[in-house]
Amino acid sequence: MAEQPLLTPFKSDKLNLRNRVVMAPMTRSRAENPGTVPNDLMAEYYAQRASAGLIISEGTYVSPEGVGYINVPGIYSPEQVAGWHKVTDAVHKLGSQFFAQIWHVGRVSHPDLLDGNLPLAPSAINPHDKVYTPTGFQETVEPRAMTAEQIKQTIADFAKAAQNALAAGFDGVEIHSANGYLFHQFFNGTSNHRTDEYGGSIENRARLLFDVLDAIKAAGVDLGKVGVRLNPSLHGLFGITMDEETIPTFDYIIKRLSAEYDLAYLHLTEPMTDVSKLPFAEPHIAKRYRPLYKGTLIINVRMTQEKGNKIIADGDADLVAFGTLYISNPDLVERFAQNAPLAEAHKETFYSGGPKGYTDYPKLNA
Ligand SMILES: Cc1cc2nc3c(=O)[nH]c(=O)nc-3n(C[C@H](O)[C@H](O)[C@H](O)COP(=O)(O)O)c2cc1C
Repeated sequence: MAEQPLLTPFKSDKLNLRNRVVMAPMTRSRAENPGTVPNDLMAEYYAQRASAGLIISEGTYVSPEGVGYINVPGIYSPEQVAGWHKVTDAVHKLGSQFFAQIWHVGRVSHPDLLDGNLPLAPSAINPHDKVYTPTGFQETVEPRAMTAEQIKQTIADFAKAAQNALAAGFDGVEIHSANGYLFHQFFNGTSNHRTDEYGGSIENRARLLFDVLDAIKAAGVDLGKVGVRLNPSLHGLFGITMDEETIPTFDYIIKRLSAEYDLAYLHLTEPMTDVSKLPFAEPHIAKRYRPLYKGTLIINVRMTQEKGNKIIADGDADLVAFGTLYISNPDLVERFAQNAPLAEAHKETFYSGGPKGYTDYPKLNA
């Protein structure tokens, strides 16, 4: 049988991967200590999955202001950087490349997670969703519209987080600009009503991402060690809805990334819900953006072995990211190689803490 495209190596001037299987970033809420420091259990979890060509870490906060979930690790304190170093060492021993996904949730938070402060956002608009706090799910609140100074500080926090990630041994960082969090709130017209240089036009709503990339570069981090994640057809999560400017905004961002920023990769997600009846949505993300982006493209959402092999064979993406399948199949690459059956993930342990449903999914030949 011919070799499966997913299992072939991938080489660019920035990445050198044993295969094209990527572990998607997934919050697992196992940093269960007061400083949200990455720990040995997390090192074990990532090491179990280190036959992936590339692992992208769970979202990790760039600052205490960026926090939106409990027990999620940060990458701003020296203790967190040291904790992450143990995790990156464990992964690198086994040969995967490893990027840190750096994150600020913006308005998808609650004062109970922020020392009583209101969440930061482009505009004071409540997403009307729920967030998980130390006392369980609570309704979101009306956030604070960020001042120019707070935007500047946030940009600096991302640049520092990128430096910290390299100091912690990561091969690079992925900017989490998807899924309704801070960057997405700036991109989207429903969440961004600003009248300054960060609101109004498409260029202005996209500006924060480019400012962050420029700041990361100015901080001495090679943009060849930076990836960007985008979810263009997100609709109905955390108050984000699509309008006639949504896809043109992502067209602008992606064309500009392609022309001006020589990144490690662009990581796109196909729609997470059925958008076929939404007038403004793009149902085929890889097909639309592959021709517009000249660098390395990762595609994700509900991928299977068969779909992943076909996407690579057809040239619609270079790498394929798997989320839920990686929760329950630590040896996903070996299972693909053997065309072996895949185990189902248990939702109730996604964020439940401890080893159960985290490090106890067996490998095939264990
Ligand atoms: C438990 C869980 C946690 C997730 N956490 C993150 C995250 O921290 N950052 C992110 O960009 N996406 C996150 N996602 C989305 C995944 O990266 C991925 O896009 C999604 O699971 C769809 O891919 P799949 O169909 O292969 O599971 C999470 C998904 C799951 C199931």
